Amino acid sequence: MAFERVGVVGLGTMGAGIAEVFARAGLRVIGVEADAEALARGRGHLERSTARAVDKGRLTRERQAEILGRVTLTTSRADLRDADLVIEAIPEVLRYKVSLFEELDRICKPETVLATNTSSLSITAIAAATGRPGRVVGMHFFNPAPVMKLVEVVGTVVTAPGVLQEISELAGRLGKTAVAVGDRAGFVVNRLLLPYLNHAAVLADQGVAGRDGIDAAMRLGVGLPMGPFALLDLIGLDTAYEVMGVLFDETRDRRHAPAPLLRELVTAGLLGRKSGRGFYDGEPREEQGPRAESATFDVVGPGAEELTDRLLAAGFKPSGDPAVVLRPADRPVIEHAVRLQDPSTMVGVHLVGDRVAELAATALTSDAAARAARDLMRVAGLTPVPCKDRAGFVVDALLYPYLNDAVRMYESGYASIDDIDVAMRLGCGYPSGPFEMLESLGLARVREGLRALYAEHREPSYAPVPLLDQLVTAGVSGFPRR
Ligand SMILES: NC(=O)c1ccc[n+]([C@@H]2O[C@H](COP(=O)([O-])OP(=O)(O)OC[C@H]3O[C@@H](n4cnc5c(N)ncnc54)[C@H](O)[C@@H]3O)[C@@H](O)[C@H]2O)c1
Repeated sequence: MAFERVGVVGLGTMGAGIAEVFARAGLRVIGVEADAEALARGRGHLERSTARAVDKGRLTRERQAEILGRVTLTTSRADLRDADLVIEAIPEVLRYKVSLFEELDRICKPETVLATNTSSLSITAIAAATGRPGRVVGMHFFNPAPVMKLVEVVGTVVTAPGVLQEISELAGRLGKTAVAVGDRAGFVVNRLLLPYLNHAAVLADQGVAGRDGIDAAMRLGVGLPMGPFALLDLIGLDTAYEVMGVLFDETRDRRHAPAPLLRELVTAGLLGRKSGRGFYDGEPREEQGPRAESATFDVVGPGAEELTDRLLAAGFKPSGDPAVVLRPADRPVIEHAVRLQDPSTMVGVHLVGDRVAELAATALTSDAAARAARDLMRVAGLTPVPCKDRAGFVVDALLYPYLNDAVRMYESGYASIDDIDVAMRLGCGYPSGPFEMLESLGLARVREGLRALYAEHREPSYAPVPLLDQLVTAGVSGFPRR
């Protein structure tokens, strides 16, 4: 089937970007909004996004006019009657989508493919609301749609033969990479990404670490393009909250229960960028802290030499009194602290990459020691991330369950290792996929970290999944790829 005329319903965070993607690829687009005010907002999104591309020299003015000229904007869904494909990007609420699809089914010609950009809802349930379930699919773009290269193409048990192939080819025509998967809540990317974002909100809510520290740790330490709170603001907290609710309903995994902090912010109308304020009030900024003038320290534990060298190079003298202990892999910092004459001077340190130091204060650490440790890290050229003495501190506590989830997804037969890696790289802009990350961190290290998390929280889904466990036991360092 030739797709030449495409309808996009809902021109919010995602729909406006999706309309732009189709228009850029030369297709005619009919953009539909709920009312005149929302339509004006949608037009604004389209104009600003293409104007930014012109300012950055990525688009000429002529081409911008050409792209905008291919888009017709309307508040009448009846204008979709001749579309070859309609994709909806209205809010993540099943009953809204079901009622829209019932209507689209009446309006559109029988051969039109109806697609949903849902992040998590059941495509099967949406398809079943129409008289053409074989021609209803998921076409899941990523935010921002004009930039992110992935489209998850989701089929159901009743999808007609050939339709997924046609939609995957269309994604290719848009310059995207399609990953075709079956109908499970969250598909590949959101099933792995959203629980991690939700977990970050739980850690902040529990005071394990602060918003800025967590974002800095994941961005500067792990190399992700954004920290979890900046990303939640970009996605929209209402959307994230809805997606978590859907995941929880399907899995009943406590980790998927939407974080109370998300609910609170959504109820307050703080939805992230689209409402002007969410976790951040405006763009996140780099924190600039004070510099240490003097401090004495001692560093013991794995990696001590590197940190000591950095501090000596900055003019500091070891005192022989432990003020800082590098995190021993095996046990909480407090177990080391209580062996000291003065446990109040001890802070746990975990270096993440070469830019971030997580600093875990125990229940006995004095404020002065915590401050001194922060200043010392800044002097050593590291961004300090203060946190509580909990298994995995911040980074490992967030990263390892995500990696475990990826192995679980592969083990369940839902997606291949390569598809999962590609989806996370292209859908989230991550420098590597979870399997690549697991292999570079070392499977044994991740298994140990998961065991420590499990031992502390007794959370069943933190236990290393059998495949990971078996590969480590067998002494294998990589995953079996086809
Ligand atoms: N935000 C993301 O990062 C992201 C990424 C991928 C997929 N999605 C999915 O895309 C969908 C839309 O999410 P969003 O973040 O763009 O939401 P949004 O709130 O930014 O935009 C939704 C838009 O739909 C419009 N709308 C509501 N009912 C309508 C109707 N009946 N007819 C026409 N327009 C209607 C609203 O006016 C609004 O402009 C959701 O299913 C979401 O899960 C979101």
